[in-house]
Amino acid sequence: MFKVESSKFQVLSSKAKDHYKTGRMNPKPLFIPVILGTARQGRASENVARFVWGEIEKREAVETELIDIRELNFPNNDAGEAIKQDQFSEHIARADGLVLIVPEYNHGYPGLLKHVLDTNLKEYIHKAVGICGVSAGGFGGTRAIENLLPVMRELGLVTIFWDGNFSTAQKLFDAEGNLLDQSFVRRIDKFLGELIWMSKVLRYGRENVSL
Ligand SMILES: Cc1cc2nc3c(=O)[nH]c(=O)nc-3n(C[C@H](O)[C@H](O)[C@H](O)COP(=O)(O)O)c2cc1C
Repeated sequence: MFKVESSKFQVLSSKAKDHYKTGRMNPKPLFIPVILGTARQGRASENVARFVWGEIEKREAVETELIDIRELNFPNNDAGEAIKQDQFSEHIARADGLVLIVPEYNHGYPGLLKHVLDTNLKEYIHKAVGICGVSAGGFGGTRAIENLLPVMRELGLVTIFWDGNFSTAQKLFDAEGNLLDQSFVRRIDKFLGELIWMSKVLRYGRENVSL
């Protein structure tokens, strides 16, 4: 029984491979917006978000946008889908993948980011997400990322197994926001490679594989 299922999978996956190679699998560009997850004045996460966003813009067949949660102005006297905003929801609905830029605040993620993410639900389902943690300390926001993983799962997002980790974030950029440590270009290249692959595969699944 297991062997039959397994060989069926092989057939499906080689078909998918053909589609992928010939470009038929993804005729339209992927859309992978970057969400800047803090409204704090003087946030170092803005430099990280602009850097990652710029690296996505260099990728062929990928469209992106920088979404700043400070600009969304969600009310704080209600929560969840009750305070949904059309424009933000349209971006999430159109997205094939997301990048979250998440500063570490007291070993967790910012409450405002959760408040914003909670306003949508079905828009996230079977889409890829990659997380970049940002911290003043030396763990690159790892604790914030780990705490966010169960939230991602509940929203229906599919996390990739590669993160961006920006430790000592205040020292990584100059006053104009230029990256000072070029090793992050290679690291984020790998992160984006994984995210783009997962976004393509999940889009193929959403469009071609019935539940
Ligand atoms: C309320 C608050 C709590 C913080 N807690 C931590 C922490 O637990 N660990 C850490 O490494 N940095 C902590 N920081 C520093 C931020 O991680 C640091 O400022 C980093 O640049 C990311 O946040 P930013 O984008 O707001 O600058 C905290 C900052 C604030 C404002």
